[in-house]
Amino acid sequence: MHQTVHVDLGDRSYDVEIGPDLLTRAGGWISPLLARPKVAVLTDENVAGLHLEALRAGLNAAGIEMTALALPAGEATKSWPHFERAVEWLLAEKVERRDVVVALGGGVIGDLAGFAAAVLRRGVRFVQIPTSLLAQVDSSVGGKTGINAPLGKNLIGAFHQPSLVLADTSVLGTMTQRDFLSGYGEVVKYGLLGDAKFFDWLEAHGPSVSSGDMAARVHAVTRSVQMKADIVARDETEQGDRALLNLGHTFCHALEAATGYSDRLLHGEGVAIGCALAFELSSRLGLCSQEDPSRVRAHLRAMGMKTDLADIPGELPGAEALVDLMGQDKKVVDGQLRFILARGIGEAFVTSDVPKDAVLSVLSDALATA
Ligand code: GLY
Repeated sequence: MHQTVHVDLGDRSYDVEIGPDLLTRAGGWISPLLARPKVAVLTDENVAGLHLEALRAGLNAAGIEMTALALPAGEATKSWPHFERAVEWLLAEKVERRDVVVALGGGVIGDLAGFAAAVLRRGVRFVQIPTSLLAQVDSSVGGKTGINAPLGKNLIGAFHQPSLVLADTSVLGTMTQRDFLSGYGEVVKYGLLGDAKFFDWLEAHGPSVSSGDMAARVHAVTRSVQMKADIVARDETEQGDRALLNLGHTFCHALEAATGYSDRLLHGEGVAIGCALAFELSSRLGLCSQEDPSRVRAHLRAMGMKTDLADIPGELPGAEALVDLMGQDKKVVDGQLRFILARGIGEAFVTSDVPKDAVLSVLSDALATA
């Protein structure tokens, strides 16, 4: 059942190992990377309680010693104070230039630990062990690392590729259903942006992925990672094609800002709603058929996911205010909003040529039914 996806980036290439029970075998994969049998692990307090001892056992079995720092769980950790604490801790643990840092956790830990590894002693290698579905299919692969600034999310960071990613699909069993489905929003995104057959497969097998069928989970993670790896290999630093990975994200970032980056809307929930809105906009611009947005929404609905603005609890600002929030997105280029639109399911493309009126009308109609 175990799969390997290779991320082809020349001398920065690496493998993503995907399958059940990888934590307890982690030492076998990490050992060849080490100059000495010792690693420093950054994790969060929740993940530490659930998975740190399994990782320790997996490393010890290969003769590797482990020290760990558990930071508080949650987005607030992706900030200067916790970053400083992590870097100072790594220095106190005498992590050297040839050592390896391990990130055990979701997107927050992976992004922070990757950035710490990028700057520690001008760059040490790191291994991602993502423990959430979102981190397995998105943030652990591709080398975007960083923290949030008071002025916005992910504004401070570096491209720093991991040396290995271990995506243990067994650990997904400890996620809440809401968090799991939030990560599934990013899985759906891959089918919608570039692989209609994968979207067909998700329509048929999404319920098995959600209910814990391991073979279905491994396939969903593998196909997602394969697609991300292909795009990152073509455009590592997002000069062009990598922006396709932001399907649904322009709407999502406005909705996240409007809901104060709170529990009202998780990132993957915003991505799912954003994908539905991006297809609605594409259909209204005559780019794809009217059936496509209906099909996207039907699948999200069938999975029990947030699909429409009405599914976000509490008040939302008006359409104009939401468009203004889009303008603050860091992916704005020369003041032009960049959208990922689609000519059909699996056929997304990047464009800055979207009339503001069309965006306003999609949002006004979506708000009217909310
Ligand atoms: N999460 C989008 C990217 O890695 O480019």
